[in-house]
Amino acid sequence: MFKQFEKAGEGAHAEKRKIADQVIDALTAHMWIEDHVLESIEEHHVVLWMLSELKDLDPAGERFDAKMSVLIENVRHHVEEEEKEWFPDVRKAMGRNRLTELGEEMQKAKKKARGEPLAVPSAKG
Ligand SMILES: [Fe+2]
Repeated sequence: MFKQFEKAGEGAHAEKRKIADQVIDALTAHMWIEDHVLESIEEHHVVLWMLSELKDLDPAGERFDAKMSVLIENVRHHVEEEEKEWFPDVRKAMGRNRLTELGEEMQKAKKKARGEPLAVPSAKG
């Protein structure tokens, strides 16, 4: 699109308008998605730390239920946000075949992804 724009003649106002609108759409989508991913990563970060604390917490202790409640609130919020604001765009952008493939890749990855919450990359930072 940038190349098209740069090649367009001085007076090609309609064409340049069209390209500019495409650039606006594409970059807005890009920024929007990236913002969402960053927010998701921050939420993952908090959840992973809570999971690592819960691992060693005595269920008879006074902090256990409170920590579980906050965890549940956090995860519900996170899931709602990802499912409502983010999945519809992903679904649109990827199409059915790519989504099926991604589902299979995730199933495979799930088998390996066990154990230590703080070993997950988004636990760091
Ligand atoms: Fe998530």
